[in-house]
Amino acid sequence: MALQRTFSIIKPDATARNITGKINAMIEAAGLRIVAQKRVQLTREKAEGFYAVHKERPFFNDLVSFMISGPVVVQVLEGENAIAKYREVMGATNPEQADEGTIRKTFAESIEANSVHGSDAPETAAEEIKYFFNDDEIVG
Ligand code: PPS
Repeated sequence: MALQRTFSIIKPDATARNITGKINAMIEAAGLRIVAQKRVQLTREKAEGFYAVHKERPFFNDLVSFMISGPVVVQVLEGENAIAKYREVMGATNPEQADEGTIRKTFAESIEANSVHGSDAPETAAEEIKYFFNDDEIVG
């Protein structure tokens, strides 16, 4: 399979605990390459736009408030089958259901403070990467 790219966010619960390096080590150990990365403070508007697909869900306001509660690290990851591979490395959305050895099982605090986000499909990966990065910021 050709190289694929996915979009990742290291969330505020993880930046607060200073564990972005530990998460990056797990990403790299899985064979994914970090080809773009920046630490940013999301505005409410930017976070609402990013999660617009979830705007009717009951947790939308809580999710947005959490995502702007501190800095995040946005990333582009590259590798074979990167989208599925990163979701495997992240583990289930709810850390109580995540497999041993996954990022969320190891680090997540709750379904909200679950340390990482990863794209779920090629179309969303492309959209999410574009929402945060210009082409010249991604160096494969
Ligand atoms: S997934 O991975 O998209 O299938 O998961 P989903 O259950 O659809 O959740 C989408 C995002 O919403 C977050 N989420 C929550 N936030 C706060 N409170 C509650 N109860 C809650 N349930 C789900 C979840 O972490 C997903 O965030 P991202 O950033 O997309 O991983």
